[in-house]
Amino acid sequence: MTSHRESRDSSGDRCAGTTGGPSNKFQCGAGGDTIYWIHQIRLPDGTVTPGVSRPAMHDFGLDEVDVHNKRVLDIGCLDGLYTFYAEQRGAGEVVSIDILEEQFGPQRQRYNTAAGYLWAHKRLGSRAKYVFPYSVYDVSPDGFGQFDVVYCLGVIYHLAHPLLALERINDVMVPGGILVLESEVSATRAGFFHQRRHAATFPMVNVMSAREAARKLVKLLLRNPAMVRRLLPHIARRLANAIRPSALDKGVYYGDRTTLWVFDCTTLERLIDFSGFEIVKAFSHSTRMAYHCRKVTNIDATFAASWKYQKVKNRITNVEGQES
Ligand SMILES: C[S@@+](CC[C@H](N)C(=O)[O-])C[C@H]1O[C@@H](n2cnc3c(N)ncnc32)[C@H](O)[C@@H]1O
Repeated sequence: MTSHRESRDSSGDRCAGTTGGPSNKFQCGAGGDTIYWIHQIRLPDGTVTPGVSRPAMHDFGLDEVDVHNKRVLDIGCLDGLYTFYAEQRGAGEVVSIDILEEQFGPQRQRYNTAAGYLWAHKRLGSRAKYVFPYSVYDVSPDGFGQFDVVYCLGVIYHLAHPLLALERINDVMVPGGILVLESEVSATRAGFFHQRRHAATFPMVNVMSAREAARKLVKLLLRNPAMVRRLLPHIARRLANAIRPSALDKGVYYGDRTTLWVFDCTTLERLIDFSGFEIVKAFSHSTRMAYHCRKVTNIDATFAASWKYQKVKNRITNVEGQES
């Protein structure tokens, strides 16, 4: 099991700077680190951390998920945007986990996200528990208890074992608990037609279609030629993705090699179903989907990946035992 330190709080003291400006650098006080933010997090003094990614609570329907007095787990919390949001909406307890201290964004820029989390945690007076580094594969009811709500946003496409992760999540949720599973979805025609063509058994909110997103992007770029120059290679890759059969084709997806796959909606919904959840609502935003999934059953041990994994682990232990 991954070792972890709880609520590490060292770098939080060292950072004191100003937000804003054209870059996402956040200069810290003397001797402190420079934090490169991904998210825009609103601080008590009204300033906002200069992240490259704007908050998308409404786009993913997070404002519709009741967290009041509930236990919330934020998987892949990064710099803590969604953790702090859950707290602000009255969550009883929030636990945040992540595995990496540093991230690489679309422009291969470095983001020291753990320092960001701890800095914001301090400024916001957060009571969230930061369990770091800690992998989703290691969560279990023994260590964590059970959660009413789990956020898993922007994580599943990074996971080598997505089904195992979903099973682990199922294990730490109360029956009827809500998982918000958010992901890029494959920008193939099949993926998008699926959203419209098949009679879904759950309500679909089309927050923004891919076409609408493209129109908005073009408008924005026309107003900002400097941004066009900076983003041109990235935009070219995205356009290439859109016309190629797979968003992952030739590894061009965001130029990020830690993205292992981009599921189409049918596949993602099947994984959700297989892991003991039913989809209660889905939000489509450009090339991303956020599914609100209710835990309906425990994982069927006959099919569970973790059951097989457990067997393999036992076998290895036995072999080792024989050898010694
Ligand atoms: C694209 S970021 C998403 C961050 C944030 N949840 C969001 O939606 O903006 C993916 C995050 O998942 C984390 N991650 C990747 N694999 C993980 C694992 N096995 N367990 C926990 N977190 C993981 C990464 O370190 C990273 O912080």
